[in-house]
Order: sequence, then structure tokens, then C-alpha cells
Amino acid sequence: MTILDGKATAAIIREELKEAVLKRKSDGKKIPHLAAVLVGNDGGSVSYVTAKVKACEEIGFESTLIRYDETVSEEILLQKVANLNQDNSIDGFIVQLPLPKHIDELKIIQAIDPKKDVDGFHPQNIGKMVLNLPGLLPATPAGIIELIRRNEIETEGKNCLIIGRSNIVGTPLSILLGRNGKPGNCTVTLAHSKTSNLKTLSLEADIIIAAIGKPNFIKANMVKDGAVVIDVGTTRVEDASRARGWRLVGDVKFDEVAPKCSYISPVPGGVGPMTIASLMINTLKAIENKSK
Ligand code: GUN
Repeated sequence: MTILDGKATAAIIREELKEAVLKRKSDGKKIPHLAAVLVGNDGGSVSYVTAKVKACEEIGFESTLIRYDETVSEEILLQKVANLNQDNSIDGFIVQLPLPKHIDELKIIQAIDPKKDVDGFHPQNIGKMVLNLPGLLPATPAGIIELIRRNEIETEGKNCLIIGRSNIVGTPLSILLGRNGKPGNCTVTLAHSKTSNLKTLSLEADIIIAAIGKPNFIKANMVKDGAVVIDVGTTRVEDASRARGWRLVGDVKFDEVAPKCSYISPVPGGVGPMTIASLMINTLKAIENKSK
């Protein structure tokens, strides 16, 4: 069994990006600048955005964090998106999700200039992904693809079960793994809350990707010997033994599933760091595309 070490892989990608920044500097080119908009104080969102800013600093990107109280109006947020679209010093930006209930997330996403949409959430970027045209790919699915690629996991002709059909993970990943590419050419099944025969499907799967946000949902009796298991879950669970009072738990019961796997990604240290690495890759792509 091999651990899919997202933390180590992301560190390698950051080194590659650092080199790219130094090259841009020596060529007299602009340094990539990522902005992040964070609304409210949700613990998970604050930690993700903090990690994104930290990654920028490490790579040598410029970064700007824009924070709003959770009572901010949709109008003010749309105005900020318009400003960031216009601001030539900003090469890419993200609006951290989820947003408070009174704000229409899709409206905000659609207001972002697709060329600066480094999360790859804009319908134009999703459309390009579906048609296999160059564009900005959604960060978590692209991070998973990169983890598979760099570990040379064979996907062609494999049965891949993706559990969870969210717009930001399951649905785009089903397209990326099903399309004609490397990695790709999987026979993809996209399972969701209405799927009736999940255990049968999971026992047939060569690759299982769990993205449902239910801690320890995938048990050993749902996984066949030699399967590849990728865990996208990151639920905060109370843990009095930790100073901060919680720990991150994935969708896979790691201790009992891992011995059956050929490859498995841990939580934390699997997909999470790869999502951030993908965002950095997209930011570099966004600035490179400007000169095309
Ligand atoms: N919330 C959970 N994952 C993501 C992500 O990749 N990008 C943004 N903007 N919000 C998220």
C-alpha cells in the first residue's frame, strides 16, 4: 500500500512554481498576484484562505486578502468583484465558498472575469473543461488529477466511482476522469444521495473518490482488494485531546481501509494541499495567458 502524499507532492509543485517566479523576475516580467475574498469567520474557510495566502508568500507570488463581515450585502460583494476584474495589478482572484445564505453564490461566480477565475468555477471555464479546451480547471479536481499523474496511477479502462456530485468536486472530476486523456479514460460512475446500490458499486470500483463530507463513511467492507482510494472529505470533529479542540476527519475510515488499498490518500495531508497547489498553478497560468 502506498500513501498518496499530497503534502509532499504540493511541496514539489511549490518549488517548481518558485523557479517559475524567479525566471519571470529575471526576464523583467510581472510577479503573479492572487487576491482572495473571505466573507465571515467560518473556521474552515479562514484556515483554507490563510493557507492559500501562505502558499503565495512561500512561492513568491504577491497576495491580497480582502475580508468582509458576514452581513456584507450582495451588492457590495459584486462591486468588489467588478473592481478586481478591472484591477490590472491582480492576475487572479477567488471568492471563498460557502457564502452566507443571503448572497447568491452563482451570481458572484458569474460576475468574475473568466480569465481571472483561478478557482475554475465560472460557467465559461466549466464549459471549456467539458469540451477539453484550454482554460482554468477547478482546483480540487485538478489537484486530484495531478496527484494521480505524479504517482503514475493507471486510470485507463478502470472503473472509477466518485461519491458526491458537487459543482466544485464530484461533477467536474467525473468529466476529467472520463475524458480521453492521461490520466483519464476511466469508466466513471457518479454516485449521490439517491444512489441505491452504493456498496455493490464500490466493491466493483478500481478507483474510489469520496467527496461527500460524511466522516468515516467508507468502510473496509465497501472496498475491494487493491483499490485506489482518494479521500476528499474534511470534516472538523470535536477532539478534546487537541489544543485547538478539533481534528480533521476524512470520508474514509483510513485505519481499516488502508491495508486493502494499492494507493490511499490521507486526511489531512492528501487532497487538501493539492487543491492549494492547483490554485497556485492556475494563478501562474492566468498571468501567462495575459500575454497570449
Ligand atoms: N470552498 C471549498 N473549496 C473551495 C475552493 O476550492 N475554492 C473556493 N473559493 N471555495 C471553496
